[in-house]
Amino acid sequence: MANVIVIGAQWGDEGKGKITDLLSKSADVVVRYQGGVNAGHTLVVQGQTFKLHLIPSGILYPDTECIIGCGTVIDPQVLIRELDQLEKLKISTQNLLISETAHVTMPYHRLIDQASEERRGDHRIGTTGRGIGPTYADKSERTGIRVIDLMNPVGLRKQLHWAINYKNAILEKLYNLPPLDAEEVIAQYLEYAERLRPHVVDTSLKIYDAIQRRRNILFEGAQGTLLDLDHGTYPYVTSSNPVAGGACVGTGVGPTMIDRVIGVAKAYTTRVGEGPFPTELDGEIGELLCDRGAEFGTTTGRRRRCGWFDAVIGRYAVRVNGMDCLAITKLDVLDELEEIKVCVAYEVDGEKCNDFPHNARRFARCRPIYKTMPGWKQSTVDCRSLEDLPQQALDYLKFLAELMEVPIAIVSLGASREQTIIVEDPIHGPKRALLHANGTPVVTEV
Ligand code: GDP
Ligand code: IMO
Ligand code: MG
Repeated sequence: MANVIVIGAQWGDEGKGKITDLLSKSADVVVRYQGGVNAGHTLVVQGQTFKLHLIPSGILYPDTECIIGCGTVIDPQVLIRELDQLEKLKISTQNLLISETAHVTMPYHRLIDQASEERRGDHRIGTTGRGIGPTYADKSERTGIRVIDLMNPVGLRKQLHWAINYKNAILEKLYNLPPLDAEEVIAQYLEYAERLRPHVVDTSLKIYDAIQRRRNILFEGAQGTLLDLDHGTYPYVTSSNPVAGGACVGTGVGPTMIDRVIGVAKAYTTRVGEGPFPTELDGEIGELLCDRGAEFGTTTGRRRRCGWFDAVIGRYAVRVNGMDCLAITKLDVLDELEEIKVCVAYEVDGEKCNDFPHNARRFARCRPIYKTMPGWKQSTVDCRSLEDLPQQALDYLKFLAELMEVPIAIVSLGASREQTIIVEDPIHGPKRALLHANGTPVVTEV
């Protein structure tokens, strides 16, 4: 039995969906713990592509229970569309449970997200415009609507009349937008409520029961470490906690129940939206990474910014997540390159800097210090073991593992399940903390 958290080690879109789908084979329960429909997770199974925003990436396994935990924010319209799409494809969604204490994204959240981004001008964050920030803001302000409220029509009507009245003042007076019709919104959300009702339960209790029955639980993160509200590149972050610690708060499970943390990182780096990105590539190589990696957002279709692998943020992600091992994805995207650079440290204001700086202005001034490695200039998409990989690709992976002081357990070389090398058992292999001897980090050979 093992309870495992899968997190993004960069700025999101690392391929968490693919890795979660792969590991779900040995999980009994898969739980999403934060984020909302800002997430976009792509799974490719037997040539078919599935794009998920809220439903956990374990849904393709008929016997796996999927849970949307209390730390997420739920847009019922998008969730119902996702349920319909899966059912059309004959994928059962009967095993989906939704936390009664998760907060609900309302139409005014989306409108305020979009209007406030416009108002910010040069200071915009580049949000997905899906109402995520305003939904979490209402949760903190204690004016949010929870799933449990949706289940009570009389109470909901009262709550929404009050909330819409309040939000209409903001929409009209601050943003010059037309007000929402409260009755229309109430009728729509009451309809959503009936559709979702059979799935709504106390998910913390369900997960606890499963843990006591020694089931395997997989906690699926959305976004990534550098988008974390507390630990990311604030203010250019999302409004939840994608780091591993968020899995406990976002599901109602105590930290003593967690056995392992698996980080997912691309073999290079991407970022969507605004904010500093030291290893960003503007020229030809950036274009090549974007084209070969098909780097367009799953949720918004925006072109992702691309750059070299950044081991400074990588090491930081290892630390703040207590990462045990890594899955490196999209190695195949580098196949054609003559040479490959890795950022080993930054140079800022004439000094070398080995650690991620929290000061946003200082981070924006960081210049990467690169180590250049030879490329392998051959296809890796059909490699199925480390022995199949060209020596230069192996050296590249080994260098990343050394820099990040964490073993690489999985290497991904394409979007489909089969295009994967399992280097060591990511769930039951040795834990990172146990690999240290005499205080010296021991790095697993790849
Ligand atoms: P997530 O948000 O972390 O789940 O990642 P996304 O699904 O948004 O983006 C990752 C994209 O890369 C998806 O289109 C995946 O199908 C694709 N992908 C995942 N792993 C690999 C890989 O190893 N190689 C290639 N070429 N594509 C991959
Ligand atoms: P997955 O789960 C990449 C980014 C947005 C923006 C910032 C804040 O697919 O990895 P928000 O709408 O959350 O308020 O936007 O966060 N962002 C993501 N970037 N992948 C994601 O999710 C993201 N979810 C949000 O682009 O910069
Ligand atoms: Mg994504």
